[in-house]
Amino acid sequence: MCGIVGAIAEKNIVPVLIDGLLCLEYRGYDSAGLVISNKGLQRIRTTGRVAELAKKVTEHHTNGFAGIAHTRWATHGEPSERNAHPHISGHESRIAVVHNGIIENHEAMRKRLQAEGYQFESETDTEVIVHLIASNLKKTDSLLKAVSMSIAELQGAYAIAVMEEIHPERIVVARNGAPLLLGLGEDGNYAASDASALLKKTRDMIYLEDGDLAELYKDQYQIYQSKEGNLGQAITRPIHHSDLTSDDIDMGPYDHFMQKEIFEQPSAVANTLEMVFNAQSVSPGLFGSAAESIFEQTNGLLILACGTSYHAGLVARYWLETFAGIPCIVEIASEYRYRDPVADAHTLVVGISQSGETADTLAAMNYAKELGHLHSLSICNVAESALIRQTDLRFLTRAGPEIGVASTKAFTTQLASLLLLTIVLAKMRNRLSVEHEAKMIAALRHLPAALQSTLQIEPEAQEWSQQFSEKRHALFLGRGVHYPIAMEGALKLKEISYVHAEAYASGELKHGPLALVDSEMPVVAIAPNDQLLSKLKSNLQEVRARGGELYVFADADTQIEESDNLHVIRLAEHAGILSPILHTIPLQLLAYHVALVKGTDVDKPRNLAKAVTVE
Ligand code: F6R
Repeated sequence: MCGIVGAIAEKNIVPVLIDGLLCLEYRGYDSAGLVISNKGLQRIRTTGRVAELAKKVTEHHTNGFAGIAHTRWATHGEPSERNAHPHISGHESRIAVVHNGIIENHEAMRKRLQAEGYQFESETDTEVIVHLIASNLKKTDSLLKAVSMSIAELQGAYAIAVMEEIHPERIVVARNGAPLLLGLGEDGNYAASDASALLKKTRDMIYLEDGDLAELYKDQYQIYQSKEGNLGQAITRPIHHSDLTSDDIDMGPYDHFMQKEIFEQPSAVANTLEMVFNAQSVSPGLFGSAAESIFEQTNGLLILACGTSYHAGLVARYWLETFAGIPCIVEIASEYRYRDPVADAHTLVVGISQSGETADTLAAMNYAKELGHLHSLSICNVAESALIRQTDLRFLTRAGPEIGVASTKAFTTQLASLLLLTIVLAKMRNRLSVEHEAKMIAALRHLPAALQSTLQIEPEAQEWSQQFSEKRHALFLGRGVHYPIAMEGALKLKEISYVHAEAYASGELKHGPLALVDSEMPVVAIAPNDQLLSKLKSNLQEVRARGGELYVFADADTQIEESDNLHVIRLAEHAGILSPILHTIPLQLLAYHVALVKGTDVDKPRNLAKAVTVE
């Protein structure tokens, strides 16, 4: 979702802006643009790819020492050059703005600014920001103050970068509810939506907080907290030295980031579980220093998340209720935030998010707090994200940057973390003997190796992919803890291959979806050798009896034999508690290979964004 890069340095910064935008491509976008200060503000915009923008920049010989750049994911107004950022306002002293987020009061602001004589060239909410700053700049001689006054009038979420034609030596940035960080380089200063955009220039980053404004010069910077339009005292924020390197966001020998990330899962899970590999037991301290006392007061869990992260929560519910005996509710964050749930102060709110910047998840977490939930925990893959910073407890999945829009290694590392949480809570509630805990930890230690061997089924999944690519729909079936895995498999297939896929708890088949089954509807079943296998087998018979074609992912010890219209891929023997994690792998591989056959843009599927920072 929209990406911002800003740079001000001693030499031409155009390559930095273009490189930065290329690194942010994974977030999803449909147009791009930049403004460079060089004897005035020079603006270049394009629909389509950053490569197209780079071509135009070369054709125009654009260069300069200061600039702001943007990838836009359309929300207000179609993807077009006219709607692409930067937007510009003013005549004598022109101002340019790039923006990530949504301005909720843009209609009222637009009317007010039109009445003041400002003419709008685009349909975007962003254009009100630039005219508003221009309007406020008539009341003050400082761009910083004008930005501060303007953001006090804006409702919604934003990260912005602003330049003024007559002061090319300075960039002003501000954030509220959308990610933005500063990069401090040897030859200049930078700003970006995430660290990956700046790694070629610097690893020293400052993560801005909501309400922060900063002024960047090539050799200095200053941060302020703005309150109700007043600039407070200058403040300092800690400098983080990022552990990421530009190799972390390199595709290496793979054809796609998604493929790389699927195959990175053994190491991503090993990194996430590193602290338990040498331990005989796990302690609440893994989730933060206050975890033990908070967990002691916890009498239930409320998990809030979206998409794939929501599916991780659904799996965890089975584990938490079975092993820890603790009630657990899992809700889609965008639904929870707009209903009137009954809050229990001692129900721990758990936010699960790869990016930690998903607007709905952040809003739902805040809402739960307003409703009276006392404590919160985040499970997240980005150390400096808004989610991690706003919760009492936290667990960082150490999957490394996930660039492919379709979440893969983030999901399996979330599951590994949720299993740790289950063990900790089960122990604290006297539901887990020392021997049982040791067995669970041993299973976790084995997980990276088990994932590695599960990846070996790739050629078989690839063989099936041709048949799926010729179909328009698919059904995914699972039971128990594997039902959310079926949901995840269906989501992966639809989002990257555009084959419509639905998941059902297989006991639900005869209550409706069986009517859809015919030879044109492939039915994927997740068939681990668990206590629900016999039930699942009966459900599969129902499909076969209606002429349906079955594609079954079975454990080696599941007694299901291949026959006409019944295809089987076998994993290793039943993996017990690890089974849902391992059964995820073939579904990811199937979706990936169907997308390859269909020739879709695997890493950047249409209409989707990696970090969904707007509602
Ligand atoms: C699907 C996918 C999305 C995300 C969802 C939440 O592959 O990636 O469904 O899981 O947008 O994102 P995070 O986890 O960043 O909150």
